[in-house]
Amino acid sequence: MAHQSDLIAQDIGAYLKAHEHKSLLRFITCGSVDDGKSTLIGRLLYESKMIFDDQLSALEQDSKKVGTRGGELDFALLVDGLAAEREQGITIDVAYRFFSTEKRKFIVADTPGHEQYTRNMVTGASTADLAVILIDARKGVLTQTRRHSFLVHLIGISRVVLAVNKMDLVGYSRETFERIVADYRAFAARIGLTDITAIPLSAAYGDNILAASPNMPWHAGPNLMQHLEDVPVTDAATGKPFRLPVQWVNRPNQDFRGFAGQIASGRVARGDRIRVLPSGRESEVARIVTAGGDLESAVAGQSVTLTLTSEVDVSRGDVIAAGSAPPQVASQFEATIVWMHEEPMLQGRAYLLKTGARTVTATITPVKHKINVNTLDELPAERLELNDIGVCELELDRGIPFDPYTENHTLGGFILIDRMSNSTVGAGLLNFALRRSQNVHWQALDVDKKVRARQKGQKACVLWLTGLSGAGKSTIANLIEKRLTAEGRHTYLLDGDNVRHGLNKDLGFTAQDRVENIRRVAEVSKLMVDAGLIVLVSFISPFRSERRMARELFQPGEFFEVFIDTPLAEAERRDVKGLYKKARRGELKNFTGIDSPYETPESPEIRIDTTAMDAAGAAERIIDRLQELKVIDT
Ligand code: ADX
Repeated sequence: MAHQSDLIAQDIGAYLKAHEHKSLLRFITCGSVDDGKSTLIGRLLYESKMIFDDQLSALEQDSKKVGTRGGELDFALLVDGLAAEREQGITIDVAYRFFSTEKRKFIVADTPGHEQYTRNMVTGASTADLAVILIDARKGVLTQTRRHSFLVHLIGISRVVLAVNKMDLVGYSRETFERIVADYRAFAARIGLTDITAIPLSAAYGDNILAASPNMPWHAGPNLMQHLEDVPVTDAATGKPFRLPVQWVNRPNQDFRGFAGQIASGRVARGDRIRVLPSGRESEVARIVTAGGDLESAVAGQSVTLTLTSEVDVSRGDVIAAGSAPPQVASQFEATIVWMHEEPMLQGRAYLLKTGARTVTATITPVKHKINVNTLDELPAERLELNDIGVCELELDRGIPFDPYTENHTLGGFILIDRMSNSTVGAGLLNFALRRSQNVHWQALDVDKKVRARQKGQKACVLWLTGLSGAGKSTIANLIEKRLTAEGRHTYLLDGDNVRHGLNKDLGFTAQDRVENIRRVAEVSKLMVDAGLIVLVSFISPFRSERRMARELFQPGEFFEVFIDTPLAEAERRDVKGLYKKARRGELKNFTGIDSPYETPESPEIRIDTTAMDAAGAAERIIDRLQELKVIDT
């Protein structure tokens, strides 16, 4: 039974040799566990004899113990993990599974679990040649089927196998199968998927998996394995212009400087003219170094180290590209984003964007629309929630070399990472660069911040007071400003309630609006610091992410976070404006501390415990601290 594994055990060299020259098909399977995805993959592994003997006997035992097939082999157990593995707590989240037949090698990106499905699908699928979309014959085409198909198309996979599974449970009905296929084709045509092969299956009983099923003589097309073996694979990346994202600069000594990475597309040969992006410097390839020795040329997929004929500055994250067809460099884009986190994506918030070996800061400015995957309608939206797909504009903190995703999956694909939790929250594709960034330039001015501040006889800075509503921020800020102006200093106090009467009167208290509230106030304070002022900001500013964004707008020594620390119970007891009472009665929604979060500062420059001193004492303490820090002189 397990002849392949026998060969691996006896002569691994012979096994590898036999497989070396076979073509490789990468595919993904889309569907949930309920659709029989695990059973199908398990069946493919089993039929291709890639199961080891010990696994096979474990499978037999497990199938009797916990299987759902009345003691017969339950292939789902192979994929979902055998009992021994489960009991030992070994991770069974293997993302890629390998199997092979006489004709071809296969890598299937398997995506276990329900919740993380989209993330795995998007991140595991950008190199796939084909997608197997599973449908439960009893249920037909579902919203999930449409979402997966839309993603498949978005990721750039043009070949689909529509695997209509569980045909045994619908009496192997031709009519059911044909109805589902017609239904699916109608939807697929609208998103531009046309290369569809539909196969009626029963993964559990093996119908149309490896041979034509006697239960469905009406099916004229191929069985699944036959199709997977015969479908042509084209290596599109090799035909594209040369791109090497630099993962690592290798400089073991003065005489060697190599730039290492995996070739994302195209081919490179010794003597080729190249351009380094974003700097735009040009040079020529001197050597192509690999672990196995120097090469004359190399192609997409190979990991190489290039040396150049001249000294050119190249850093990690740069792209070495064909001199004749280099990528563009831009900092503003239209992008399609798939949101993958329970916390929604907020317009205006800064995230980390990782593409190739480069990480930059990206702000979503604005969401243009999201897509209803059932109707393909474009819906207006301000934010994206878990599993939403939307088209957004992105603004990066610096220019990056890029190709549109449709031309290059490596240079056009990215993931978004939350800056506070470091978790991956989204994945996306760059559609095109926005021209507006290229038409707006920075105007150099002769009078600058230093001149303006010197004229006022002070150092410009921001005191950023954060804390709950009713913590005492405004009262303390007011006292500080009174004292500073009395001493002849030039100040301005930006107060949350007041700014919300003018500049920010269009904003409410949703997370989205608070992000925008703080973004605007941070930008205004930056202008005021540029004017040479001492700026006091008194806003709840409840989110760490936006306080950090504000801080990053300033030079070191200009931004002081002052945490006005009043416990919720105390602020609520004082309730100067009566808002806590309203919030408790449910008359005021999204109230900070009640049903909207306040994220406590982790390392503020100054912390004021208002239960230990009154407002005058607090103002005094802050001014003393500023003198100690030499922000203001005595
Ligand atoms: S922030 O969260 O966006 O920084 P901001 O400081 O501008 O808030 O405004 C807070 C002030 O608005 C509070 O002091 C309070 O007077 C008032 N307010 C009205 N509704 C709310 C609410 N839902 N949550 C917090 N403050 C509110």
